Amino acid sequence: MQTPALRNSTAHFEIEGGRPLTGEVRISGGKNAVLPAMAAALLTPEPCVIENVPSIQDVRFMTAIIESLSATVEQTGEETLVVRADSLTESGPPGSLVSNIRASFLTMGALLGRQGEASCNFPGGDVVGQRPIDTHLAGFAALGATIGVDGDRFTAQAGHLRGARIFMDYPSVLGTENVMLAACRAEGRTVIVNAAMEPEVVFLGEMLNRMGARISGAGTHSIEIDGVGELHGCTIRVIPDRIEAGTYAVAAAITQGDLVLREARPRDMDALLAKLGEAGVTVQELPDGIRVSRSGPLRPIHVQALPYPGLATDMQAPIAALLTQADGTSYIHERVFDNRLRYVDELRKMGAEIITVSGTTAVILRQTALAGSAVRALDVRAGAALVLAALAARGRTSIHDIYHLDRGYARLDEKLRGVGAAIERC
Ligand code: UD1
Repeated sequence: MQTPALRNSTAHFEIEGGRPLTGEVRISGGKNAVLPAMAAALLTPEPCVIENVPSIQDVRFMTAIIESLSATVEQTGEETLVVRADSLTESGPPGSLVSNIRASFLTMGALLGRQGEASCNFPGGDVVGQRPIDTHLAGFAALGATIGVDGDRFTAQAGHLRGARIFMDYPSVLGTENVMLAACRAEGRTVIVNAAMEPEVVFLGEMLNRMGARISGAGTHSIEIDGVGELHGCTIRVIPDRIEAGTYAVAAAITQGDLVLREARPRDMDALLAKLGEAGVTVQELPDGIRVSRSGPLRPIHVQALPYPGLATDMQAPIAALLTQADGTSYIHERVFDNRLRYVDELRKMGAEIITVSGTTAVILRQTALAGSAVRALDVRAGAALVLAALAARGRTSIHDIYHLDRGYARLDEKLRGVGAAIERC
């Protein structure tokens, strides 16, 4: 696999806006599904074949993390990886790699489950507000691990993991996944109460069950895990990326286009599709995807980002970009993270009239004609919001710091060009 790119990459996107996007986009495998799958493969010495792997930077970061543990990651097809963790030699990845992505902390649950000890630094990831890891650590402790901390490096040690009833203070996605990874090797039954319900949690449960785990209830707030003595290899296909699909849905809506999102799963996107419908966007379910189009005006709406099945916080910034084109005042409430409206300043540079009432509420005052400008992608979804705004704007927009977009969107520029966008990577 390619070496992780440097953060100071100078590449930027040049986008000439104003073209309706039409045609078909194939939705790639999900970023937030493939990363836990790669971590889960550490639970067994046997090979795990992961199919439908998106070509994104976060997969390359996770590859480097897994390889730092003496496991191997082999690319055997364009979208297939084989992870082999037959001879692990480390208790955890080096801090320098952990700072790249938040999902690196999933190695903690997997290694704790596999070898009874694990260590990891406080993980990096998008700057969207406070991102504690107390639910992860409390879960490990409840399973019988002793938690230590030295600087920003955490250790977990357990001669023997025991199943427990674990209440999550918050239905954290990675927290739930981390506890699932460790608990499938604990003795006896674990019940995670107030578990995250995201489709990616369900997917991880499916993969672990294929590996021999006994997990039920994933996709509800109560997950039951009966520990098993060992896990074996498996083959699994990563579920489609509902956030990538949502981003292209908004691209169709904001450009007054008509896109077929091949392989998107509407059942994973109920909240978004409902809100798009409310705003006047036409959404049609297809046997193998979703068709999204708009020909009439956009209505203003109120949206709130919530844990699943609420509207995904990762869609909040892209929807804000869309609502700059709605005929009236829209309200956005971010209820998952406490600092995820930083993109508003960048949208304002393009002419959007948005005020933030607090760190978590934005009011999009009225419809404004967006104009090309020079802006910065502040994180992966903030960057997506700017790409969407640029597609609808008059003139040329330069989007800098696009390494954030490359972390989570597979071949974004190529896919957009395929449906009629004028976008160049410079
Ligand atoms: C995951 C996703 C990210 C998405 C987020 C919310 C991955 C790799 N990333 O991140 O794209 O935006 O879910 O859908 O899957 N919290 C606590 N205690 C904890 C952990 C979290 O209070 O121990 C709080 C956080 O402060 C935040 C909220 O939970 O307010 C959501 O965080 P969480 O669900 O943990 O997000 P991630 O799993 O990090």
